[in-house]
Amino acid sequence: MFPCDFAWGAGTAAYQIEGGWQADGKGPSIWDTFCHEKGRVFGEQNGDVACNSYELWEKDLECIQQLGLTHYRLSLSWARLLPDGTTRHINQKGLQYYNKVIDDLLTCNVSPMVTLYHFDLPQALQDQGGWKSPGIATLFDSYAKFCFQTFGDRVKLWITINEPYVCAKLGHEDGIHAPGLKEPGLAAYLVGHNMLRAHAMAWHSYNSFYRTEQKGAVSLAINSDWLEPSRAGCAEDIAATERSLAFTLGWFAWPVFVTGDYPEIMRSAIDAQSKKFGYSGSSRLPSFSKDEPAILGTADFFALNYYTSRKVEPGGGCGETLCMKSDRDAGEVLDPSWPICGVSWLAVVPHGLRKLLKYIKDTFNNPAVYITENGFSQVGPLQTEDVQRSEFYKDTIFEVAKAIQEDGVNVRGYFAWSLLDNFEWADGFSVRFGLFHVDFADAKLRRTMYLSGQEYVKMILKYKSAQST
Ligand code: NOJ
Repeated sequence: MFPCDFAWGAGTAAYQIEGGWQADGKGPSIWDTFCHEKGRVFGEQNGDVACNSYELWEKDLECIQQLGLTHYRLSLSWARLLPDGTTRHINQKGLQYYNKVIDDLLTCNVSPMVTLYHFDLPQALQDQGGWKSPGIATLFDSYAKFCFQTFGDRVKLWITINEPYVCAKLGHEDGIHAPGLKEPGLAAYLVGHNMLRAHAMAWHSYNSFYRTEQKGAVSLAINSDWLEPSRAGCAEDIAATERSLAFTLGWFAWPVFVTGDYPEIMRSAIDAQSKKFGYSGSSRLPSFSKDEPAILGTADFFALNYYTSRKVEPGGGCGETLCMKSDRDAGEVLDPSWPICGVSWLAVVPHGLRKLLKYIKDTFNNPAVYITENGFSQVGPLQTEDVQRSEFYKDTIFEVAKAIQEDGVNVRGYFAWSLLDNFEWADGFSVRFGLFHVDFADAKLRRTMYLSGQEYVKMILKYKSAQST
């Protein structure tokens, strides 16, 4: 039922696990800065040490082996490799670290999937305008080329940018992620635009200079909930659901997979709101230039981060001011019948993943799909026997199997989030997503497999043996 080369993985991100924030010449990133400011993160916590994977990588590798993973998704810290963000200065120790990680994985028969950017911009580049500045795209492209050149002989699966939606909206509209900007209705669109330009440039670089020799694949990881109208058959709710999809999944997937440009309903909604609020500049949603590398076709597979499902109805603006919420005029709510476990935004809806996969197949011309993240969290007292999470993984993977078998979706891999409990951004260490528990009170940061990890081991074994027969 799962193809024989199906990727069974788990993921992490540099800032969430590595620590070593100043070690061996690493430059600061926007998350270092953000966490060191008062009031930004739960309990004033930070990723200075986190799981200390910078020093304890071998322990992580043991976890990966204990799970029997075929793939491991990690991200590179841009500022660890290039402390000021540019290739003018390369940090050899950073290079050595990632070379060792990649080599060790391959020695253990585990294929790396490498994310170039997972929320942690070098602070030096933020100081020059960060993702709001158009020049960031070429700087990202140089960094990407450096990584392809350096690691591409061994890395065959690349993600350029992780969750551009989250970087743009949480970092530049809501201000709850680094760099903590609150410029509603403006900055997020600009940031999303520059992220798409950066991604496309890097994909074209790979395509022109590295693909023939290295034979890898490159995409960007798009997060999306499964969305449904609140009241089935209600025209307003159906329209709101379409708008909501256009402003989330469509914002990034439409330009890359469908037209090379933003969904039409996104632009018309934004422009109509500008008019209503008397905003007189050019469209708040930028336009792609014909003189730059095309955006359309710049993904070799669809990389999906899926966590939850929501019901949608019109509404949810922000009063008299311009903001993304009024632009999309859609409120997304959790259905009260769905169990909520862990964080408040995450209802457990495994069947939503199957529906979303079918939607992706139908809308984006049946692409190869990697589920690059999926998981659910634990908060409050530690439960090592996490029965609910074990059930969640079983149910979800069963839905993926049905998507493949019954709906014919070309799913190529599944990456649980996350290998380890780690620094969950604004929630600090209060939210645990790991298949392994990390004891942050223990000087050795001991890793212990949760029951859900044990179940994942069994599922991988079971499905793998069916794959080979
Ligand atoms: C998506 C992000 O990519 C990851 O960094 C985060 O920990 C998970 N969502 C859970 O919130």
